[in-house]
Amino acid sequence: MSSFSNTNHDAFWMPFSANRQFRADPRMLVSAKGMYYRDDAGHDVLDGCAGLWCVNAGHSRPRIVEAVQKTVATLDFAPAFQMGHPMAFEAADRLAKLAPGSLNHVMFCNSGSEAADTALKIAIAYHRLRGEGARTRLIGRERGYHGVGFGGISVGGISGNRKLYGSLLTGTDHLPHTLDLRRNAFTRGLPEHGAELADALERIVTLHDASTIAAVIVEPMAGSTGVLPPPVGYLKRLRDICTKHGILLIFDEVITGFGRLGGPAFAAEKYGVIPDIMTCAKGLTNGTVPMGAAIVSDHVFEAFMQGPETAIDLPHGYTYTAHPIACAAAIATLDTYAEEHLFERAEILSPYFEEAAHALRDCPHVVDIRNVGLVAGIELEPRNAPTTRAYEVFDRAFRKGVLLRYTGDILAISPPLIIEKHEIDRIFETIASILREVA
Ligand SMILES: Cc1ncc(COP(=O)(O)O)c(C=O)c1O
Repeated sequence: MSSFSNTNHDAFWMPFSANRQFRADPRMLVSAKGMYYRDDAGHDVLDGCAGLWCVNAGHSRPRIVEAVQKTVATLDFAPAFQMGHPMAFEAADRLAKLAPGSLNHVMFCNSGSEAADTALKIAIAYHRLRGEGARTRLIGRERGYHGVGFGGISVGGISGNRKLYGSLLTGTDHLPHTLDLRRNAFTRGLPEHGAELADALERIVTLHDASTIAAVIVEPMAGSTGVLPPPVGYLKRLRDICTKHGILLIFDEVITGFGRLGGPAFAAEKYGVIPDIMTCAKGLTNGTVPMGAAIVSDHVFEAFMQGPETAIDLPHGYTYTAHPIACAAAIATLDTYAEEHLFERAEILSPYFEEAAHALRDCPHVVDIRNVGLVAGIELEPRNAPTTRAYEVFDRAFRKGVLLRYTGDILAISPPLIIEKHEIDRIFETIASILREVA
C-alpha cells in the first residue's frame, strides 16, 4: 500500500502545486542517497534537478549528516541576537572566503526569499545612513525570481506570482528580460546578443532620477523562469551603469551559487562582475537544513558601523538566523564541495552535458535549448493550455524514474554536481523518448 493512501490528504497544503491534481495521482519520495531518490513504491528516481536546485553534492552525504546529528545533540538552538556561538562565526567566515571581491560580511537567514528581502532592506538602509534617504526605489527584472516575500515578489518579474497579492511594494520598476529566441535560439552557453538590454537601466534612471534609486537586483542567470543565461557583456554593463549612478547592484545567486555554473563558486566570479550585495541559499547547506544569506561588501558594511557602538546597527534578523544546525550543515557542505572539487567537476562535465542537452534539438515540440554549467533549459512549444505539455513530460519522466523541473513550458535540468556521464545520458534520453510520445 502506498504511504499516501492512509493519510488525511487535505491537511498539507502543498506550495506551488496543483493540490487537487496531485492528490488524484501522487508522486511521493521516501528516501534519498547520492544521485537517487526512492519513491514510495520502492523505485529509484534519478535526481535531474538537485531536489530544487539545492542538493549540489548529492543526497545524504555522510559528512553533512554526521555534522547535523552531532550538532542537534550538542547545541540544539542558540539565539543570535546579542549572543554568539562558534559555528556561526566559522560558517560566515567560510562563506565570506568563498565569495569574491570585498563581499566579506554575512547576514544569515533561512531561505532565498528571506535573503532577497534582507538584501533589499540593507540597500535602502545603506543609502539612508549615508544621507541619501530618498533612494528607496528598487529595480528588478521581468522574469526575475527572488522568492515569495513581499520584497521578492515586488522586484520579481513573474506575473503569476504577483497578481493575487495586491499593490506589493511601491516604488519598484523592472528591466526587460533577456530572452530573445529570434536572435539567440539554441545558443550554447552565453547568448551573443542582448548586452544592450542593460541600457534600459539608463532609461529607468532618466525616468525616476538616480537620487531615488537604491538598488538593482538580478539573478546572474535567471533560473526559475526557465534558464536564461546572461548575454555576453550584459552583467558588466549593468555593473557600470549602477556604479555610475551610485546604485547598489545585488546579485541573487540562490541558484547560481555553489558551482552550479561550473568553475568558481559564484556567477559573479565566473563572469568577473562583482555586486555590492550577493544573496545565496539552497546549496549553502546542500539543501539539508534551511539557510540563506545576504553577503555584503566592505563599503556597504562600513556604512552600518558608524553610529554609537552601543546601538544596534541593523534592526533585522530572524529567530533562526545562524541556527547551529544550519551552520554545522553549511560548514560540512563547504568541506564536501572543496574535498571533492565539485565546482571544478561541474566545469569539466559541462561540455558533455551541453552536448547531451543539444542532442534534443530535433525532437518534437522543442523550440529552444539553453545551457550553462550543469543547467539546461528545454523550451517546448505551448499547447492551447499553456504548461500542460511540460507538465506531462515532467510527470511521465517521474514515472520512468527521472525527476525534472518544469516552469511554464520549459523543462529545467540541474542535477547534483556528482552526476556521472551515463546518468546525464539517461536524463536526456528519457526526455527525448517522452517528447516523441506526447502530443
Ligand atoms: C534566484 C532565486 N532567489 C530566491 C529564491 C527563493 O528561495 P527560497 O525558496 O529558499 O525562499 C529562489 C528559489 O528558487 C531562486 O531561484
